[in-house]
Amino acid sequence: MNAYGPGEQPDFYAALASELGARTILEFGCGTGMVTADLAERGFDVTGVDPSAAMLDVARQRSSAATWIDGAVPDGRFDLGIMPGHVAQFFVTDTEWRGALDRFAATVAWLSFESRDPRDREWERWPVVRHAGPVDAWSEVVAVDGEVVSYTNHYRFVATGEELVSHAQLRFRSEATLRRTLGEAGFFVERVYGDWDRAPAGPELIVVARNTSVRFGVEQPRDVRELVERHLALMHSVTPAGHVHALTFFGARHDGRLVGVGGLRELDRTHGELKSMHVVDVERGSGLGRALLAHLLAVATERGYERISLETGTADAFAPARSLYAAAGFERCAPFGSYTDNPHSVCMTLKT
Ligand SMILES: C[S@@+](CC[C@H](N)C(=O)[O-])C[C@H]1O[C@@H](n2cnc3c(N)ncnc32)[C@H](O)[C@@H]1O
Repeated sequence: MNAYGPGEQPDFYAALASELGARTILEFGCGTGMVTADLAERGFDVTGVDPSAAMLDVARQRSSAATWIDGAVPDGRFDLGIMPGHVAQFFVTDTEWRGALDRFAATVAWLSFESRDPRDREWERWPVVRHAGPVDAWSEVVAVDGEVVSYTNHYRFVATGEELVSHAQLRFRSEATLRRTLGEAGFFVERVYGDWDRAPAGPELIVVARNTSVRFGVEQPRDVRELVERHLALMHSVTPAGHVHALTFFGARHDGRLVGVGGLRELDRTHGELKSMHVVDVERGSGLGRALLAHLLAVATERGYERISLETGTADAFAPARSLYAAAGFERCAPFGSYTDNPHSVCMTLKT
């Protein structure tokens, strides 16, 4: 049961659509169609999709200017896909979330949605009773398991005292996890706002991502990965902490073609090293290097690294690489690990 105030979801997504020059908009998980109908009224060509036929019946009453679809993300091309009402959090499993992102990757040029920032721990402030006309509604937490909060929704009819209860779960993904999963599906995150006024930090993670069709992923056949994982488990059991150095290779693929690579090496549990970043010549200047770096930093943050370091060259040929790292916040540092102080080499580090 959403009721949006001025500046919140409908205003935010309408302003964003105008900025992006988006004419056709797809809302996935439109429910009773509050946002879709609002955007249709503002003149956008909007399609609202929801798996609940009952909710769509209400939505159809709300607006005849929008297109309503009962089910999953349809085939077609849309300028912008949106998921207001924290719908992204209803995709609890990795498979469900990846499935939704893959459908969007096949249909939209831009994707924007919101997810509550787990650092705000909103569920700890539940229940907050919302008075919606004849119904009082609130949610009560039943269990918290990692990023998944299980809860009950309560709807009480004020006149009769009758109460309906339903069970649900929400996933509170971190910003790093949202960035990694979007990168894997072919989206590059251009902006993340913390609140509807576009503040950089706040209770929300409001994501604006561009469909680049370049997918990032671990480049290791499953059988190799499994054996490496067994090897690492053994190493961790017999080697002092801080002396096991695992390396993971990532690839950037455009229509299956490898267009970039980069490695992430674990120096210790809190310190990672970026290795062998390389983007093919034709992709230089396209933003792929920035996107690949952002992806590796998201993975590093998810892994719990508090610091990322790298070594690169001092020659002119490395100037673009040094600028890329500096723009991401890396600063020069003393040689780390086995690197030495020499005229050909410069080390840089970033506190995440
Ligand atoms: C809180 S409502 C938000 C409705 C609407 N987006 C809004 O902002 O008013 C959540 C909606 O997500 C939809 N939903 C839940 N799980 C879904 C899934 N797996 N796929 C698509 N929609 C889903 C529900 O049917 C419901 O309409």
